[in-house]
Amino acid sequence: MKGIILAGGTGTRLKPLTQILNKHLLPVGPYPMIYWPIIRLRDAGIKEILIITNQHHLSSFIELLGSGKKLNVNLHYEVQVNEGGGIADALLHARKFINEEKFIVLLGDNVFEDSLIPYLKDFQQQDSGARILLKKVKDPARYGVPIIDTIQKKILSIVEKPSKPPSTYCVTGIYMYDQEVFKFIESIHPSNRNELEITDVNNLYIKNNKLKYNILKGWWIDAGTHESLYKAFQFVNHHPPKGDIH
Ligand code: DAU
Repeated sequence: MKGIILAGGTGTRLKPLTQILNKHLLPVGPYPMIYWPIIRLRDAGIKEILIITNQHHLSSFIELLGSGKKLNVNLHYEVQVNEGGGIADALLHARKFINEEKFIVLLGDNVFEDSLIPYLKDFQQQDSGARILLKKVKDPARYGVPIIDTIQKKILSIVEKPSKPPSTYCVTGIYMYDQEVFKFIESIHPSNRNELEITDVNNLYIKNNKLKYNILKGWWIDAGTHESLYKAFQFVNHHPPKGDIH
């Protein structure tokens, strides 16, 4: 299976740190943020990885990571043409790289403890469809929030950044998709914040009865704000994710 890491966006919530630097190059513990999703994929056996980022940050990623050899992965790069056009818009740029396979997507600002291996196993056992990972959080309004039928173990719908969250879970930035994702992305329209939303794509999988989920066990952080970036730094220092960097 191949992996995609999304490392574009505008990093607005981290300004002025992101005035010049791409968010995913900021330090989290002893490494730039982007190292953590690469390591998570590599340690689950995924070595063919596509990084999608903005045109003007591309050279920094190449300078830092090159072919990926030092981290024992093969890195490929793609530019998101419509900068900040949304997670689903960025994902469209993975189509050629993926080429008929099922694949996993990580948001580059998600830092987490769990190994991906058990979740990938579950996904491999699905004939088709998608699988997302959820996490219980204190501040669900910041995220995509699922409405869950706990008896049937089914997600009924996902609401993006709801003012009144319908549950205490959030949808993490760890998504597993089949090829249908590209068809779904092409059918959605920009949201109020003018982005192609991954939540709209996931809701289409739900409509087609093809979205499965697991709940993450270990710590998980979306390091996209000053407060959570600081938290990620502390977590990584105190409980480094299992698996070696080198
Ligand atoms: O972290 C989980 C959350 O991520 C989910 O719960 C939400 O449903 C999902 O929409 C997303 O919310 P955020 O507001 O945190 O997304 P953000 O704009 O911070 O972008 C997340 C990552 O995606 C970030 O690492 C950069 C990348 N990205 C984002 C955009 C908008 C791109 O590569 N291109 C883009 O155009």
